[in-house]
Amino acid sequence: MKKIIVFKCGGSVIRQLSASFFANLRELIEQGWKIVIVHGGGPEISSMLSRLNIETEFSQGQRKTTNAVLEVTEMVLTGSINKFIVSELIKHGLDAVGISGVDGQLLLADYLNEKEYGQVGRVKKVNSEIIDIALNNGFIPVISPISLTETGEKLNVNADLVASAVADALHADQLLFVTDVKGILKDGNLLSSTTPEELEILIVNGVVSGGMIPKVRAAIAALSNDINEVMIISGKASFLTKKMFIGTKIKRQLEGV
Ligand SMILES: Nc1ncnc2c1ncn2[C@@H]1O[C@H](COP(=O)(O)OP(=O)(O)OP(=O)(O)O)[C@@H](O)[C@H]1O
Ligand SMILES: [Mg+2]
Repeated sequence: MKKIIVFKCGGSVIRQLSASFFANLRELIEQGWKIVIVHGGGPEISSMLSRLNIETEFSQGQRKTTNAVLEVTEMVLTGSINKFIVSELIKHGLDAVGISGVDGQLLLADYLNEKEYGQVGRVKKVNSEIIDIALNNGFIPVISPISLTETGEKLNVNADLVASAVADALHADQLLFVTDVKGILKDGNLLSSTTPEELEILIVNGVVSGGMIPKVRAAIAALSNDINEVMIISGKASFLTKKMFIGTKIKRQLEGV
């Protein structure tokens, strides 16, 4: 049986991934897990847009993806960040290959709301053949979330949601969101375990905000499908002890309940 873990590496932490993060990946591979990585890259896209003096419009707090914004987004995600992760994995003794949702038509998407957000998509279908080819040949596939429509137009899709769709398509055992915080914090304390119901309340009362909202939504979507367990973990330190993950575990029901 193939045991698969999908990691979503946040743009918030990609350039700060610790040596112990890569050591943990090696341990998991030695234990027989297959690893798939999906990555984001928000902060670097923003800084490249400002370096290039590309004016951006916001709609309901979200940047509108015009042609010019999409061009830069693809350059940064599929060009710079994707190759950075692949080269870091190789440097740490792990075989990896970088692809985007465009390659092998991996991510088929349609417009979320063209008028409101421009070229932003949602995943309709994951054609996972290219992932299987990589995994079956010992490579970690590293996926940039740029997707294609049926008519071949490129769309930017939130990487948290792509990770959730990929985990679902692969019937992955685990989905781990790697970010720059230890997990979900409430009153300064780390929640070791939570449920979709509790998270909806934490969103409403503002405890979960900003970039944590799409992550939590993606986690809840994954749990409503086949995935048993989703975790939010930090990429800045070791996330594995005695085969257990350190962070916030999101389960349909809390253990013992
Ligand atoms: N309750 C919470 N607990 C922890 N972090 C929270 C909470 N509410 C909001 N956050 C914010 O969510 C951030 C993580 O999401 P963010 O989108 O910034 O990173 P990412 O998804 O890892 O990166 P990217 O979006 O570039 O892929 C944290 O750095 C923190 O500021
Ligand atoms: Mg994010």
